[in-house]
Amino acid sequence: MTRERIVNLRDESRVGERVTVAGWVRTFRNDTFIALNDGSCLGTLQLVIDREATPEATRKLITTGAALRAEGVIEASQGRGQAVELKVDVLEVLGGADPETYPMQMKKHSLDFLREKAHLRFRTNTFGAVFRVRHALNFAVHRFFTERGFFQMHTPIITGSDAEGAGEMFRVTTLDADNPPRKEDGSVDLSQDFFGKTANLTVSGQLEAELGAMALGQVYTFGPTFRAENSNTSRHLAEFWMIEPEVAFADLKDNMALAEDCLRSVLAEVLEGCDEDLAFLENREIEAEKGLPQQERHERPLRERLRAVAETPFQHVTYTEAIELLRQSKPFKKKQFKYPVEWGIDLQSEHERWLVEKHFNGPVIITDYPAAIKAFYMRANEDGKTVAAMDVLVPGIGELIGGSQREERLDVLQKKCADFNIPEEHVWWYLDTRRFGSAVHSGFGMGFERLVMYVTGMGNIRDVIPFPRTPQNAEF
Ligand code: 4AD
Ligand code: MG
Repeated sequence: MTRERIVNLRDESRVGERVTVAGWVRTFRNDTFIALNDGSCLGTLQLVIDREATPEATRKLITTGAALRAEGVIEASQGRGQAVELKVDVLEVLGGADPETYPMQMKKHSLDFLREKAHLRFRTNTFGAVFRVRHALNFAVHRFFTERGFFQMHTPIITGSDAEGAGEMFRVTTLDADNPPRKEDGSVDLSQDFFGKTANLTVSGQLEAELGAMALGQVYTFGPTFRAENSNTSRHLAEFWMIEPEVAFADLKDNMALAEDCLRSVLAEVLEGCDEDLAFLENREIEAEKGLPQQERHERPLRERLRAVAETPFQHVTYTEAIELLRQSKPFKKKQFKYPVEWGIDLQSEHERWLVEKHFNGPVIITDYPAAIKAFYMRANEDGKTVAAMDVLVPGIGELIGGSQREERLDVLQKKCADFNIPEEHVWWYLDTRRFGSAVHSGFGMGFERLVMYVTGMGNIRDVIPFPRTPQNAEF
């Protein structure tokens, strides 16, 4: 008999049917009632076993975490809390879980503790919900772009270029670190390395996506990216996934509209499709915030916040206006900001949070940043000081999306390369698209884990990716 997933067995329509289920025990009460979860949904199926007909040796093995297969008939449940239950007549314990050593007991565990047990934390309600929502978001992103005629492009993971110019790359090499081949002058002979030159893990698929967009019209990459930035924060990973669309003939305004449409569409889709998990996560957040002072708690519950974002147009402000707003703000006047606020600074997270959480109280797109604090490829504005950049900030997260119109003028881009110390021979292929059939184009990058954080309400980025990679940590 094929296994049925519990998500499909929970209403009365299946009463009277004979089914087989398999899953892991959450609880076992009165030697009779098993709450079984198979990961297909948050909820459990109640199994009712016949105490008399089940040998004691078998019953002893039915402990939290044990894997079971059960066969029986679906019946309407007398008990409260579930519509149906499975009257079991064949029960097989596939794998026990010794209660003395199994770490995932039914008591509440801290997220810190569960991070140490990342191989087992999928079995908790919280992580089950997070990873089902993560999947739904992933799928919603692909649907969004596919329905609008974008082609997914698999950009390389190993690359010779530093797209963001931030120098935060992981080296890829097959040379012996203890004894590398050396040239006569004593320096390491990179020509003998696997690729015959320096290679790194990519920080972004953008530059290659641009090449695709300049022929396929509109493409997106959605792949892993790597940053060796030593920032041990709740919003940074060394390995994260990024969604990067790139669109020919689109300017900054089109790019802003696409980013907003994308975010609002995927929110609407998961609000519709993941209600049970989101309701659970919403409650989890309310519980977690109970001890906190009022001003540190969310004003509105998770789903209400997401619904508001899905339904309301984003606000727009230029960088220059944002600096002005910050300088007029209470925390600035009361000297409560840790970092200075003046034209030319990179906005710090305290500034972003004030803008998005206190001033605009919702997502905001900041545009036209100073050229000096943004990447070389962003299109220079007429004022000679700013570039056609955009960052989308959201409450609780800060920067969720970063993008720009791209510099399509060869001479301007060559000058930018010189200013940023990027040798033209490293990016000759990128410059070629400006030599042949160049055109206005734009794109952005959305950090996928930041999106998952935003949607699930989880406060730490390490809790929305199965096995986080952070400084000093690559366990599992
Ligand atoms: O702003 P970033 O650095 O932009 C780029 O990489 C561009 N090439 C994107 C493009 O225009 N195609 O990164 C984009 C987004 C950020 O807004 C943030 O959400 C996420 O990627 N991000 C990170 N997420 C987790 N951990 C990190 N270390 C991240 N760094 C950036
Ligand atoms: Mg950025």
